[in-house]
Amino acid sequence: MKKILVTGVAGFLGSHFLDKLLEQGHEVVGVDNLSMGKRGNIAHQLANKAFRFLQRDITEPSALQDIDNDFDGVVHLAAFKIPRYGKAIDTLKINYKGTENILEFARRVGCKTVLASTSDVYGRNPILPFSEENDSVIGSSKVARWSYAVSKLFDEHLAFAYQDSFGIPVTILRFFGSYGPRHHLTWWGGPQSVFIDAALNDKEIPIHGDGLQTRSFTYVSDTIEGIYAALIKPEANGDIFNIGSTHEVTILDLAKLIHRLCNTGRDLKLTLVPYESFTGGKYEDVRRRVPDVSRCEKILGIKAVVALEEGLRRTIAWQRTAERTSGSE
Ligand SMILES: NC(=O)c1ccc[n+]([C@@H]2O[C@H](COP(=O)([O-])OP(=O)(O)OC[C@H]3O[C@@H](n4cnc5c(N)ncnc54)[C@H](O)[C@@H]3O)[C@@H](O)[C@H]2O)c1
Repeated sequence: MKKILVTGVAGFLGSHFLDKLLEQGHEVVGVDNLSMGKRGNIAHQLANKAFRFLQRDITEPSALQDIDNDFDGVVHLAAFKIPRYGKAIDTLKINYKGTENILEFARRVGCKTVLASTSDVYGRNPILPFSEENDSVIGSSKVARWSYAVSKLFDEHLAFAYQDSFGIPVTILRFFGSYGPRHHLTWWGGPQSVFIDAALNDKEIPIHGDGLQTRSFTYVSDTIEGIYAALIKPEANGDIFNIGSTHEVTILDLAKLIHRLCNTGRDLKLTLVPYESFTGGKYEDVRRRVPDVSRCEKILGIKAVVALEEGLRRTIAWQRTAERTSGSE
């Protein structure tokens, strides 16, 4: 594996994965339309001769037409993640059209594709921990949040269909809440971004619902090791992997932990936001979310090692600086 195409390279995971690939001696072409990513995330690599950045929209069929055929792998991270706040059309369009164009590129080049999927595809399945063999239990199409899960399930099916029909190997990665430096400072970056911002700036920490819903949070370096192993290991071809930490925490406890680690000397201020009060009352949450990572450990040889408290300390330190230099997004 020498030359790799990375989509969504200026985003949170894309920019960290770029660093990993260059550090390992790969040549990288990175694509991003900078809709949600930032040039600043990759600015430190722009002068690197092993890296070429292309600002392009992957929903355009011509986006990769002029690119050579000498790639050994594609890591497809570009996507829209949050259909809330009127983004459902973008989410569906980017995740459907964009992925089709990327798989077409992989077919033309004849190389392996690693596709970013999400823990959200398990939906409301009550059987925990989520194993890759579990069913997807998706809610009503009247609830916009499921458009993300459905778009990623479509991507997974399309990737396997390309593998079956054209013989290009694919590997699907279902990420569980990755966090760390360079994440968006809004909900786009996840609850920890918003909670850190609130705690640092003496704002109320907004808790959706009762806060007893659980998530597992994975420090970015652990996620990146999973993506890299999936890319370079042929044993990963044709399979699906959960990538994440198994440490389950309630959103309420996450808020309290972040407040303590921010150590501002101010009181904890929480505000409970009823689900009915946003997205027109049509919102559904996932009550518990925790991965079974046995396949990841066995085949990829990867285990999340950064403890939540340590990962949050690093993220808070970065966010303090990021907010000072750029302000909240
Ligand atoms: N971070 C997580 O915890 C997490 C969890 C589950 C799944 N994922 C998946 O991992 C991938 C990366 O997530 P992330 O957290 O880095 O998100 P991100 O939003 O930071 O990065 C996505 C990047 O894709 C780019 N992009 C969007 N539409 C594009 C288009 N049409 N053409 C070109 N570029 C486009 C954005 O500008 C952005 O830089 C996504 O596919 C996401 O669905 C991430």
